[in-house]
Parts: sequence; C-alpha cells; structure tokens
Amino acid sequence: MKVTVVGAGNVGATVADVIAQNEIANEVVIVDIKENFAEGKALDMWESSPIRLSDTRLSGSTNDYSKTKNSDIVVITSGVPRKPGMSRDDLISTNAKIVKTVTENVVKYSPDAIIIIVANPLDVMVYTAFLTSKKTRNKVFGMAGILDTGRYRSFLAEELNVSPKDIQALLMGGHGDTMVPLARYTTVAGIPVTQLIDEDKLNAIIERTKKGGGEIVKLLGTSAWYAPGQAAAQMVEAIARDQRRIFPVCTMLEGEYGQTNVALGVPVVLGKNGIEKVIEIDLNDQEMELLNNSSNAVKSVMKTFEDMNLL
Ligand code: NAI
Ligand code: 2OP
Repeated sequence: MKVTVVGAGNVGATVADVIAQNEIANEVVIVDIKENFAEGKALDMWESSPIRLSDTRLSGSTNDYSKTKNSDIVVITSGVPRKPGMSRDDLISTNAKIVKTVTENVVKYSPDAIIIIVANPLDVMVYTAFLTSKKTRNKVFGMAGILDTGRYRSFLAEELNVSPKDIQALLMGGHGDTMVPLARYTTVAGIPVTQLIDEDKLNAIIERTKKGGGEIVKLLGTSAWYAPGQAAAQMVEAIARDQRRIFPVCTMLEGEYGQTNVALGVPVVLGKNGIEKVIEIDLNDQEMELLNNSSNAVKSVMKTFEDMNLL
C-alpha cells in the first residue's frame, strides 16, 4: 500500500504522521511545492520510526510527482487555509487552480489511485478533482463529514460527561455553515440523544458544530489540523484495510436524495474500491429542506468555479 499526501502543511503532515503512527501503509510520499518542505517533514517523521516502532517508509519531494508513481491512495491537502474573517468559499480562486494542477500530476503517475480531497472549499474542490481526473465518483471524493461529526460528537460528549467513543452521529450536506447535523440519527451507546439532553442544549451544540471550523480559526489565526488529519487518515485506513466503514463522505450525487451534479456529504460505505455504496436514509420534510438549502449553497460556489473556465 503506497499513499501520497500532497501538501506538507498542517493537515498534510498530520495525515502522513497518523498513517505512519498506525502503520496504515507501507510507504508514504509527501509532496509540496515549497522547496525542501516535504523532505524535511518526512525526514523528521522517519526519524520517529525507531521510537514509535513503525515500519512505514516516509519520503518527501519538492513537486516531483515521479516519486508518487503507482500510489494506491492520494490525499490532496494542498491549498491555502482561511484566515480570520474568511469563509471557506473565499479560497476558491487560489485553491481551484492548485487542485486542478495537482490532480493532473497525480493521475499522470498513478492512474488507478483513489483520490481523497481535503482542500477547501471542500465540496467544490471534489467537483474540480472529479472533472479533472475523469475518474468515476467512487474513486474521487472528499473528507469533511468525519471532521464535522467529530466536532459534534466531542461537544456532545463534553455536555453529557460521557466518553466520546460512545457517541454515534450522522451529518450531511456541504462543508459549510449550511451543513446538516441530524439529531434524529444521533445516539449515545444506542440511546437516542434526545432522551439524554434537552432540545435547547442540543440545538446550541448543532449551531456550534456548524461554526466549528470558524471557532478554531478565531483561536489560532489559521484552520484546524489535528482533527482533519485524523479524519483523512481514517478514510485512508478504511480503504487500505478494506474495512467497509460507514462515514459521511463528500461525493458527486447521481440522483440520491433528489440531487444530481453536485458534490455533497452523505453516508457511504468505504472499502478497497473507495466508495462501495452510497447509503440513502429516510429524511423528513424539515431535514430534506435543510439538505436542499445546503445543496443550493454548494451549487452557487460551483457556479463561481464554472465561471473561472479552468477546465
Ligand atoms: P497549510 O498552509 O498549512 O498547508 C498547505 C500546503 O500546501 C503548504 O505547505 C503549501 O506549500 C502547499 N501547496 C500549495 N500549493 C501547492 C501545490 N501546487 N502543490 C503542492 N503543494 C502545494 O494549510 P493546511 O492548514 O494544511 O490546510 C490545507 C487545506 O485544507 C486548506 O485549503 C484548508 O482550508 C483545508 N482544510 C480542509 C478541511 C476539511 O475538513 N476538508 C479541514 C482543514 C483544512
Ligand atoms: C475546518 O472545518 C478549515 O474546513 C476546515 O476546520
């Protein structure tokens, strides 16, 4: 199993480090456009191997994609992160060009690779990579839902004073303020969450989740990386180990939930072929309306991308 991580910044380095820590792949190649940056990060991680007892081989490359040849999975984190006051959508003009160029390079050397997009605005970057790569949708998709549910689950664990391990939740829609956390599909060790928390508190947690990315940007001056890095590595693991795990993943929809030609977060089964199945759950009228709003928000950013005429 060979994994390439493009972008050796905060998120990319964390993804590579988690993969090595858990020996999810035999080999990880990190690529960055900044001279020697990926090489330095990879060397530092490799020097941890005898200490953490990991066999995963790590190497870095300054924009030389020949080193990524025949990767099984590629995680694309290259792109600028947001600064305080910016929305994820403000990143589109810079990041669409980066994701397009990087995807072309990735496909040239690893035509069969499964591509996981992390760069923002996530849903539209998935669309960009999907169109650029000309792959089927099961092989190019994005990470956001695991992070967003991670935030939601961690806030619930804190409020209920229980282990975060016991909180299961589902969240759908775009990776933005219109995301749709689904209280009806949230349980604590099998107990519907609504039996354990009053409605006002649950609604406050849902609102905090929607703005969770912004909360970190305000604190740090840049966006999050520990939870995003863990989340992307968890997707890599599900594919590398053919675990058939069910996660919210951003994928191009082909009629599911009444949506076509839009990339949105929905529950999927993730295994060795990438997305093995898109799961369609029952949504009530209110949930469906929220999902439609989220889809419209993503479509308006897709329109900005299309107007750039990059493809
Ligand atoms: P960062 O600035 O720490 O790292 C980005 C890296 O990409 C830099 O090292 C930069 O040199 C590199 N890069 C830029 N252009 C490149 C190119 N053409 N080829 C190769 N490398 C290139 O940023 P960070 O914090 O790692 O975030 C990366 C992206 O991920 C941002 O767009 C951010 O918004 C997004 N993000 C998405 C999340 C999600 O849930 N989907 C969560 C967290 C971040
Ligand atoms: C986040 O939600 C920036 O999208 C990233 O933290």
